[in-house]
Amino acid sequence: MTGVRIEPSILSADFTALAADVARIPSADLVHVDVMDNHFVPNLTFGLPMVQRLLQVTDLPLDVHLMIDDPDRWAPGFAEAGAAVVTFHAEATGDPVAVARAIRAAGARAGVALKPGTAPDVVIADLGEYDQVLVMTVEPGFGGQAFQPAMLGKVAAVRAAIGDRDVWLQVDGGIGPETIGPARAAGADTFVAGSSVFGQADPDAAVRHLRGLAAS
Ligand code: DX5
Ligand code: ZN
Repeated sequence: MTGVRIEPSILSADFTALAADVARIPSADLVHVDVMDNHFVPNLTFGLPMVQRLLQVTDLPLDVHLMIDDPDRWAPGFAEAGAAVVTFHAEATGDPVAVARAIRAAGARAGVALKPGTAPDVVIADLGEYDQVLVMTVEPGFGGQAFQPAMLGKVAAVRAAIGDRDVWLQVDGGIGPETIGPARAAGADTFVAGSSVFGQADPDAAVRHLRGLAAS
């Protein structure tokens, strides 16, 4: 299994002070950026212009999590802008492999995400096309929800299918000191954490704490 990556989610940061909040997490491996369109999920955040601006104020790589309809139309633009990883939902497109290829062609790692109710078969059949599989451990749309332990079996199934491939296995939703250990044990290597990082007085200490728990 590869090393551990910790990705604080700015969904739980201060939207009026994003540059300052991102500067408070220097120990993070990537910054997780949740783009929501109020169609694929019942919540609305921000789009490409905000991501372009964020790229100008941090040296940390960005992982853009697209919770939007029509990723075929929108995903390549986030890669062209300079995001290191662009992750779209398998449920939002009829052709996830084509979206992943467009993301790679635009210069980013291609991630594919699965809602809790989506079986992993759709991505396991084409694992060579993806650089990251995101197993959602809550219903996408909001921070601060409780981790769903029933997702651990899906994490383990995807881990077994990945084998030796350089595919990151990410979990997102309810990750904190109580849940990162079981998620790691099931095979995840890339951990999104929103409220358990930015909800703390010292977010960088929270990142380091989570990394230590995942490594032990
Ligand atoms: C939820 C988002 C998550 C969110 C996680 O739909 O995809 O990235 O920020 O927040 P926590 O870590 O608080 O569950
Ligand atoms: Zn997310």
